[in-house]
Amino acid sequence: MKHFTTVKDIGDIQQAVHQALAVKRDRFAYSDKGRNKTLLMVFFNSSLRTRLSTQKAALNLGMNVIVLDVNQGAWKLETERGIVMDGDKPEHILEAIPVMASYCDIIGIRSFARFESKADDYSERTLNQFIQLSGRPVFSMEAATRHPLQSFADLITIEEYKKTVRPKVVLTWAPHPNALPQAVPNSFAEWMNAAGYELVITHPEGYELDPAFVGSATVEYDQRKAFDGADFVYAKNWSAYADPNYGKVISKDRSWTVDTAKMALTNNAFFMHCLPVRRNMIVTDDVIESPQSIVIPEAANREISAQVVLMRLLDELSPNSPANR
Ligand code: CP
Repeated sequence: MKHFTTVKDIGDIQQAVHQALAVKRDRFAYSDKGRNKTLLMVFFNSSLRTRLSTQKAALNLGMNVIVLDVNQGAWKLETERGIVMDGDKPEHILEAIPVMASYCDIIGIRSFARFESKADDYSERTLNQFIQLSGRPVFSMEAATRHPLQSFADLITIEEYKKTVRPKVVLTWAPHPNALPQAVPNSFAEWMNAAGYELVITHPEGYELDPAFVGSATVEYDQRKAFDGADFVYAKNWSAYADPNYGKVISKDRSWTVDTAKMALTNNAFFMHCLPVRRNMIVTDDVIESPQSIVIPEAANREISAQVVLMRLLDELSPNSPANR
């Protein structure tokens, strides 16, 4: 695996789950694999789980880890080529990326949608600049349109908890005070479709996701109908994708909050969310604290998905590569 930005990069999805479960049984069995290799994690946006779980995964592999918070203590980075740099950004990303690459072997990037332009966000400009200019294997720690480390962890979790071969998985929109990217729901749909589960996506009208991610999923505007017989309920907020409302909050309808009455419509479904979660906006206290809530094991599996990805990227470092110094 040269880079990891979408489900396509993981190849055979069942094989990836198999490898993940083997790693989970003994995560320290590969503690020499990353010896003398350095992971650089670059954060343009905040994180708790991704930062800690990816760092832990790298440490399990014996790697060194450097974390850069671009917005805290680093020079502000200009990303537009051709701009006259007379503003508040003293460094250009076109120099910064090769410099960062010179200190590491593998690079993880977190760079969210900015909502200034849908075309810009959906072109994944920052992520692709790192791929093109670093000469290093690059993986997404949540980019503008996808969050594949999260979706891989979600898949591992569903495989661990499912009671039928092809569970019914419901991705439900839920209200939030702010405009959030579509990266998590896009990615979740992409991975669930690849896994061949029965996927139903439910949201108020106007919150339709990019059809390229919806794929073969059923879209249901009646949340209660969608929950009927569900084995897993995955809640998430996202802002509008469709023009002219791209990146906007068009509803904060609290009737979409996941509560006990709605969970009672399901097949005793497990409740999932990528976290952080706004309690009593996205989900009630009762549901997230119920025995059917698996948000903590889901978050714990972030370490496993990250370790599998790092192992596969380490496998790609050629013995003759300058990175193998
Ligand atoms: N789920 C997730 O990516 O969490 P963080 O934003 O805290 O990394």
